Amino acid sequence: MAEPRVSSSIDGTLAEEFAVPSHVEEVKEKMAAFAGLHAAAGRRVVLVTSGGTKVPLESRTVRFLDNFSSGRRGAASAEYFMDSGYAVVFLHRHRSLYPYARMFPGTDLLDGLRLRGGDGAAGDPADVLVDRRLLPNVGKVLRRYQEVKDGKLLLPVEFSTLSEYLHLLKAAAQALSTIGATAMFYLAAAVSDFYIPASEMPEHKIQSSNGPLQLSMKMVPKILSPLVKDWAPQAFVTSFKLETDAAILLERARRALDTYRHQAVVANVLDSRRGHVVVVTPGSQAELLLSDDDVKNQVEIEQRIVSNLTSAHDRFISGQAG
Ligand code: PMT
Repeated sequence: MAEPRVSSSIDGTLAEEFAVPSHVEEVKEKMAAFAGLHAAAGRRVVLVTSGGTKVPLESRTVRFLDNFSSGRRGAASAEYFMDSGYAVVFLHRHRSLYPYARMFPGTDLLDGLRLRGGDGAAGDPADVLVDRRLLPNVGKVLRRYQEVKDGKLLLPVEFSTLSEYLHLLKAAAQALSTIGATAMFYLAAAVSDFYIPASEMPEHKIQSSNGPLQLSMKMVPKILSPLVKDWAPQAFVTSFKLETDAAILLERARRALDTYRHQAVVANVLDSRRGHVVVVTPGSQAELLLSDDDVKNQVEIEQRIVSNLTSAHDRFISGQAG
C-alpha cells in the first residue's frame, strides 16, 4: 500500500481541524530559550518524542482511540542522549515512562522504602531506609538525575491528545530550527494515523442504545513532511517505523526515507523491539541486536541506537560544514 499523499497545506489543516493547546506559544518560547542556551554552550539538542497519542471520539470525551507505546524507548533514549552530551526536549505522553523514574515504577518505590524511628509525621521525623534489593542502583540513578536537573539538560513537555502532539511538535520544530544542523529530531512517539475532525465529532457521549458503532475517520497528515521541508530543514531527523509483520518492515522504512528525504529511520517489529532494530539511512543499513550476554548485563538497545545516531549526526554536521 502506498504512503498516504502528503497534504500541501498541512499548516492550514492543523489550524482548522486540530484544537490548538492554549499554552503552545509559552512552551515554544521555553523550547527556543532552552535550545539557544545549550547551543551557546556548544551542546547539541535533541527533541525526543515518546508515548502514544489519544484521539477522542466525542468532544466531551468519554471514549478515545489510543496508540500503543509505553514510552520506554523514548525515556531510555533521552538518558543515553544526555550521557552523550546532548540536551533533551522530551515531548512525551502524560504519565508514560519518564527518564530515570522509569527504573522505579510506583509500587516498587513504595515497597522499597521503609521508615525507621518516629512515625514520619510532622514533629516526629523518621529516617527513610532503602531496600536495595527492590530499588537496585537507586543512589546512582538519583545522582545522575540530580546532575541532569542541576545542568538543566532536560526540558519535559507533555501531551495527551493527537492535537496537542501535532501542535507541540510543530512549535518544537520551529523553536529548534534556530540552531540548524546541531538539532536532532528523534520521533519515537506512536502517532495516530486516523482522527475525527472537530466538525464531525459528536459533542456528547455516543449512546450505545443507538446500536453498533460505525466510525469513519480521516487520515492524519504525515507531519514528517513539513517538519523536514519547512519547519526545521537543516536538522538531523530520525523517524521510527513500527510494524507487526517483519516481512514488510525494511521496505516500509526505505519507502519512508525516499518519501520524506530525512536522515534515518529506526525500523522495529512490535514483539522484538527491545532486542532488535535496524537503523536505515539513505546509504546504509545497520542491524542492532542484543546478545544473551547483553541481556544478562542489562544492556539496553537504546544505548546502541543512540550511539549509532550520534555518530551519524557527527558526520551530518561535518558534511554541512565542508
Ligand atoms: O514506547 P515503547 O513501548 O518502548 O515502544 C517503542 C515504539 C515501538 C513505539 C517505537 O520504537 C516506535 O516504533 N515508534 C513509532 C511508531 C509509529 O508510529 O510508527 P508509524 O510507522 O506509524 O509511523 C512512522 C513515523 O511517522 C513515526 O516516526 C511517526 O512519528 C511519524 N508520523 C506518524 C503519524 C503522522 N501523522 N505523522 C508522522 O510524521
